[in-house]
Amino acid sequence: MDNLTPRLSMGIERIAVLGAGQMGNGIAQVAACAGYEVVMIDIKQDYLDNGLAAIENSLSRVVKKERMIQQDADKAISLISTSTEKTSAADADLVVEAIPEIPELKFSTFGELDLICKPEAILASNTSSISINAIADATNRPDRVIGMHFMNPVPVMKLVEIINGQETSSEVTELVVEASERMGKVPLACNDSPGFISNRILCPMINEAILALEEGVAEPEAIDGIMKLGMNHPIGPLALADLIGLDTILHIMNVLHEGFEGNPKYAPSDLLKNMVSEGKLGRKSGEGFYNYS
Ligand code: 3HC
Repeated sequence: MDNLTPRLSMGIERIAVLGAGQMGNGIAQVAACAGYEVVMIDIKQDYLDNGLAAIENSLSRVVKKERMIQQDADKAISLISTSTEKTSAADADLVVEAIPEIPELKFSTFGELDLICKPEAILASNTSSISINAIADATNRPDRVIGMHFMNPVPVMKLVEIINGQETSSEVTELVVEASERMGKVPLACNDSPGFISNRILCPMINEAILALEEGVAEPEAIDGIMKLGMNHPIGPLALADLIGLDTILHIMNVLHEGFEGNPKYAPSDLLKNMVSEGKLGRKSGEGFYNYS
């Protein structure tokens, strides 16, 4: 089977990033900083403009910290083009999808990418919790589909969680590991399973912190302070929930709860559900466990 699979003769040179949001623009940034030619694709020019502005802002922070010279930041920006058409991914060697976590949307998008992209292209998903096998099933190239789970904020966090689907070929894993390393990241691999490793461990911890708050065990500042000062976490679990987005945490808890057949240890707390339904989503809505307005 592997002998019949088309290979990338020159390795990965061009990358398409689907989605210009928080994760997508971060991925485009680290890819361009690594010298890849990048096309960032989203459905509206406004989203692309905001994504580019976020990249410029992030790079200017890096330059200000004297971790990069302005010339290199300008070079990275010049390597990024934008498009509102998925067809712009046609000549990409690697597509990294970072669109909203809606399973049907991911499946239809991967079906389209499969038709648009060259047969040897690798289709990677930055999904935080949707099954890589299910995404791969939406294509005719399941051996060239893989999870490439970057962490938020992408320019800062070292990890890329590499998720191998049942049919992902070893050549694809090797190329994606190599590309992640070139982006300055540390790729660590796991197999497809609900929440993979990162969110299977992280989100129940955050949910537990929310339960403790709901039960009146402590105030948010105390819960976060205890985890920061006592466990050396850089940020407390409630502040981290605000950074990730409460809707995302709830979505992942639901995936874990369903994926592990209703095991009550993964049941999302009522407070989390209520805050999401009230539109308190954390930083992005201006209010979560803390106020950002
Ligand atoms: N671009 C470039 N640099 C940035 C940046 C950005 N977007 N955001 C922060 N930085 C840099 C700052 O310039 C600063 O640099 P310095 O160390 O030289 O001063 C450094 O990062 C720290 O930033 P700040 O001083 O502004 O703020 P903090 O000290 O509070 O750090 C943080 C911010 C790095 C986000 C820190 O709070 C942290 O590590 N938080 C935990 C993040 C985390 O756990 N992420 C994983 C989330 S889970 C996930 O993404 C999976 C998903 O599926 C849910």
